[in-house]
Amino acid sequence: MFIFTSLRDTWSLLPQPLFNMRGLTLLSAVSPVLALTPGDTFYPPNLNDTAYISNSTIGTYGGIYKAPTNGPTAGDPYGTYDYCFMPHPRSEEYTLPEALIKGSAKGKLVYLEYLQRHQRRSPYNILPGGENQAYECDNVRPYLYAGPNSASGIQPVPMYAQTYQDPSNPFTPGVNGTCQYPQITIGGIQDGYQHGKDLWAVYGKKLGLIPKKPNDRVWFRSSDSALTQASAGAVLRGVWPDYKGALPLHQMVTSVDTVNEGYSCSAVSSTLSSLQSTALWKEHLSVTAELRTKLGSMLGATSSSWQSTFDHFSDNFQARLCNGYELPCSVSNSSACVTMQMAEEVFRAGDWEWNYYWRTNPDVVKYIQVVEGLFIGEIVSRLQAVQDGKSSVDYSHIFVHDGDIGPILGSLGIAALRWPAMASNIAFEVWETEEKSLYARVLYSGQPVRSIHGVLDWVPLSDLIGILKPYVPEDIVSLCG
Ligand SMILES: *[C@@H]1O[C@H](CO)[C@@H](O)[C@H](O)[C@H]1NC(C)=O
Ligand SMILES: *[C@@H]1O[C@H](CO)[C@@H](O)[C@H](O)[C@H]1NC(C)=O
Ligand SMILES: *[C@@H]1O[C@H](CO)[C@@H](O)[C@H](O)[C@H]1NC(C)=O
Ligand SMILES: *[C@@H]1O[C@H](CO)[C@@H](O)[C@H](O)[C@H]1NC(C)=O
Repeated sequence: MFIFTSLRDTWSLLPQPLFNMRGLTLLSAVSPVLALTPGDTFYPPNLNDTAYISNSTIGTYGGIYKAPTNGPTAGDPYGTYDYCFMPHPRSEEYTLPEALIKGSAKGKLVYLEYLQRHQRRSPYNILPGGENQAYECDNVRPYLYAGPNSASGIQPVPMYAQTYQDPSNPFTPGVNGTCQYPQITIGGIQDGYQHGKDLWAVYGKKLGLIPKKPNDRVWFRSSDSALTQASAGAVLRGVWPDYKGALPLHQMVTSVDTVNEGYSCSAVSSTLSSLQSTALWKEHLSVTAELRTKLGSMLGATSSSWQSTFDHFSDNFQARLCNGYELPCSVSNSSACVTMQMAEEVFRAGDWEWNYYWRTNPDVVKYIQVVEGLFIGEIVSRLQAVQDGKSSVDYSHIFVHDGDIGPILGSLGIAALRWPAMASNIAFEVWETEEKSLYARVLYSGQPVRSIHGVLDWVPLSDLIGILKPYVPEDIVSLCG
């Protein structure tokens, strides 16, 4: 699926004294050696070390990887890293920037740039040896129909996709059931709706930025994927439960899309292969050799696409655990099953890879530039328009993928990057003070980002633009080669 990255001398793993100490609740479920607040679970301090992968006492570092078929789920306690359902801004936890609470400044929210990954779903990657459990998606209707752009024109029948298998078809997908791979699941839709309701409570009801009805100061975009489009429908229904009309979801032409690796750029794959040939990358493969061999033979997953990164195993296990299913067993031997301990090592390895792709690899700046630089440039332009008093929107909401959220967090210098999980979200808030100065705050899954630039809680907007700009390529066409 989405592979990327790089980072470098900016890296700092110092325990950061600047952390926001709002969520002081200790996580009781975590091993006693780790006394973590919910926010801490996002930032394992030794994530850049391969010992993080092999040390089984770390478990999930407080992370949650289990959800029932139906949602919404809500983390426990709220704010914890949760692969199935990342926390988002909610009125229960939401507080104003510290500068406003302390009264050193008075201000109002004037712009919101909200990015999110789609909600939970079935997997991209079906086990090559076959899946021992069926996936059911009859409880979801993925709508797909088209009509003219006027209410007086033809109104189409709201058709939806119904996936089935025909026994006369000699080709089998290796998995039974009624899903496409991937597709949004019922829990994902329910989570999305709650996500939207919570955004309304904060940014509409409380802060007055999101209007009561969609108007020309709001703007939506997605990738060309059905997953992100389905999320948009669910989330925006939560924002505007009574709105009757349709809304435009902007998309670029797939072949040049600046999200989800749309445009083709040979420097993406060449940079990836270079960062995957370092001694450190090889070390992460050697510390996981035994695990990979065991999983490979149990699940028929011995090809290099399954063995060379943890992307496929993680994706497969996460989708099962996040939609009310069990970890897989071998199709030919029902007592050979993936244990939770194996899955946890897979998840730690996946987290290590994401941190390496977007924070610590030797080519990280270039990798972010070639994969995400144009999109980061679009965000910078919108923030610049706000800075210049020329913005044509107040609220932009864009539905993307883990492979977009990761590099953006990398460009912000996040202190540690675990895999950006289902519905993970970044809120770029712009505040205007009484003196007409503009400040930014950047929330990751509801809390100010802990970064190498400090906690991004109250940063002059021009400084935030300055943090992002080095990742916007001057000439992407020549950089891509
Ligand atoms: C991880 O980060 C720490 C702190 O910056 C650094 O000292 C250490 O060398 C890094 N380890 C690896 C394997 O990159
Ligand atoms: C494993 O992790 C635990 C918990 O973080 C830590 O206390 C222990 O020192 C680690 N062991 C090794 C060998 O790194
Ligand atoms: C799928 O269902 C068919 C018919 O019940 C069964 O023969 C087959 O073994 C199942 N396949 C898997 C991978 O479970
Ligand atoms: C089935 O798996 C179990 C557990 O891994 C193992 O002990 C057993 O030998 C396997 N049976 C066969 C026939 O391979």
